[in-house]
Amino acid sequence: MLEELERILENGLQALENIHDEAALQEWRVRHLGRSSPVMQVFAGMGSYSKEERPLVGRRANEVKTALETALAQKEALLKQQALERKLQEERLDVSLPGRPRPLGRLHPTTRVLREIYRIFAEMGFQVYRSREVELDEYNFQLLNLPPHHPAREMQDTFYIAEDGEQTNTVLLRTHTSPGQIHAMREFSSQSPDNPPPIRLILPGMCYRYEQISARSETQFTQVEGLAVGERITFSDLKGTLTDFARRIFGQQVRSRFRASHFPFTEPSAEMDIECFLCHGAGCPVCKYTGWLEILGCGMVHPVVLRNGGYDPERYSGFAFGMGPERIAMLRYGIEDIRYFWANDARFLEQF
Ligand code: PHE
Repeated sequence: MLEELERILENGLQALENIHDEAALQEWRVRHLGRSSPVMQVFAGMGSYSKEERPLVGRRANEVKTALETALAQKEALLKQQALERKLQEERLDVSLPGRPRPLGRLHPTTRVLREIYRIFAEMGFQVYRSREVELDEYNFQLLNLPPHHPAREMQDTFYIAEDGEQTNTVLLRTHTSPGQIHAMREFSSQSPDNPPPIRLILPGMCYRYEQISARSETQFTQVEGLAVGERITFSDLKGTLTDFARRIFGQQVRSRFRASHFPFTEPSAEMDIECFLCHGAGCPVCKYTGWLEILGCGMVHPVVLRNGGYDPERYSGFAFGMGPERIAMLRYGIEDIRYFWANDARFLEQF
């Protein structure tokens, strides 16, 4: 029987060697230490041994059982340790690795130029005034001295929403920010009709024109309108304000000039050019060999427009201007195609 006990011990220890997980360990426990395991069977059969054999077998059986229990406990601890090490390995964290940089968003070039324009005019005391993008023919054209069939309407091909010819209530997408002049003047003049307050505003926003899309023109683009109305405002105020603006946005050395032009809502009207910063006036493809780049339209607010806004042209005068931030961005950053602005190509946007 003692030999049998040695075999039981050896079998048990050997079987334990090949165990690598918790489930197999539980199985092993039942098989080698459970109620019907070989060693427990020895205890159960104690009665069949002689008086002399019984203590020897009993002691050895106890030793074998204890040895198996100890081995089990060791194995259990080992498995636990291995599981922990595996877990640590899997969740390994290399603290010396460089961090993952989050890609930084950027401002769209139009937004950048817009903000710069806001800043410059804010310093001169101009407030931002928001005006609607969906307009009536009345505001987009008629109140701006562009009656139905006026030839200047041709310059601005229009997206009509509810087409009704060139009628007052025809709904359209504004072709310029100038209708905001009427909304703004009416709002301020209605506050005190007998004594309307002076105003200094810029009116930024999206405009739409039904145009063939090309490198130079898009169907949607931004404009910033400017409007100053008050007593004794003169053309030299207009020139001074815009010359200062050009210096602040393009650099102190930039030369500018005003060229007579025509807009139905201003009189007199002008266009402002700045010296081509590529060739400095010598002539190159960017300035079409003129040495100058056109950046905005402007003029003294037409008396009819002042009156439509609730300002008596006998007492008040004002100037207005309109510029395209995309155009300024194109000149500033050397962008050769206006279609990039809405193409949503990250390679373009990432450059700013
Ligand atoms: N609204 C004109 C345009 O879109 C620009 C402009 C605005 C001209 C204000 C004069 C005064 O071309």
